[in-house]
Amino acid sequence: MKKLILSIVLSVLFVGIVFPQGIKIPLIGSKAPSFTEETTNGQITFPDDFGKKWKILFSHPQDFTPVCSSELLELAYMQKEFDQLGVKLAVISTSDLALHKMWKAHLESLDYKGRGPQKIQFPLFDDHQYVASKLYGMLHEPESTNMDIRGVFIIDSKNIVRAINFYPMKVGRNIKEIVRIVEALQTSDKASVLTPANWNPGEDVLVGHLPYTEKELADNPKLKNDYYSVGDRMWFKKGDKSGTADKN
Ligand code: BEZ
Repeated sequence: MKKLILSIVLSVLFVGIVFPQGIKIPLIGSKAPSFTEETTNGQITFPDDFGKKWKILFSHPQDFTPVCSSELLELAYMQKEFDQLGVKLAVISTSDLALHKMWKAHLESLDYKGRGPQKIQFPLFDDHQYVASKLYGMLHEPESTNMDIRGVFIIDSKNIVRAINFYPMKVGRNIKEIVRIVEALQTSDKASVLTPANWNPGEDVLVGHLPYTEKELADNPKLKNDYYSVGDRMWFKKGDKSGTADKN
C-alpha cells in the first residue's frame, strides 16, 4: 500500500515537472478571455471591441509559412459568408506586427486558386509576447513553446465560448466546416433544435422533446408532415430552407 501511494505521489510530481506551467484552455460555456493588442487594423481589445457580433479567434504557428498562407487566403475568400452570419474574424500568431504587415501585403498580391487577389479585411494580432496564446491555451508545449498550434474558438454575441477546435501544425483547417459549426449553433439557438451528424443548413434537424403528443400529430396533417421519428429516440423536424438567425 505504502509503495502504491509513493508511486502515485511520484507520478504526480513527475507530470508536474514535465509540464511546469500547465496549459489553461477556456472551456465551452465560459466567458471568452479579453486581451488588447496591436493589429494590422489598429489596437483592438478582443472580444469586447467586436460588440454583439459572433467572433472566431484563429491562431496559426508562423507568418509566411505555406499552410498558414493557404488558410488566410481561404478566410479572405470566404469573408462574405462570415459577414452574412454576423461573424467577426480575429487571427493571432506569435509573429510581430511588422511581419504581419509584410505578410498581409504579400498575400494580397497573390492569385490563389485562380480567384484573383483577395483583400484581408480581418485583423492579424501581434501576439509576440504570448498574451492571447496563453489565455486561450494555444501553445501546446510538447509541440512548441513559441509557436501556436492551429486553434479555433467560436464565440457568440454574448462573448461565451461555444466551440473549440485544435488542429496540428501540418494540417490546414477546413474553413467550410468552421462556417457549418456557426450555422449549426445559430440554428440551434434560434429554433431550440439539435443538429444531427453531418447536418448542413436547410436539412432536417433533431428535437430533444417532441412538442406535441403523438395523437396531436396524428390529428393534424400539417404537423404530421413536419415531424417524423427514426426509432423511438430520434424525432426529426423537417428542415427550414430559410436559413439561420442571430446575425447581430
Ligand atoms: C505551415 O503553415 O506551413 C507550417 C507552420 C508550422 C509548422 C509546419 C507547417
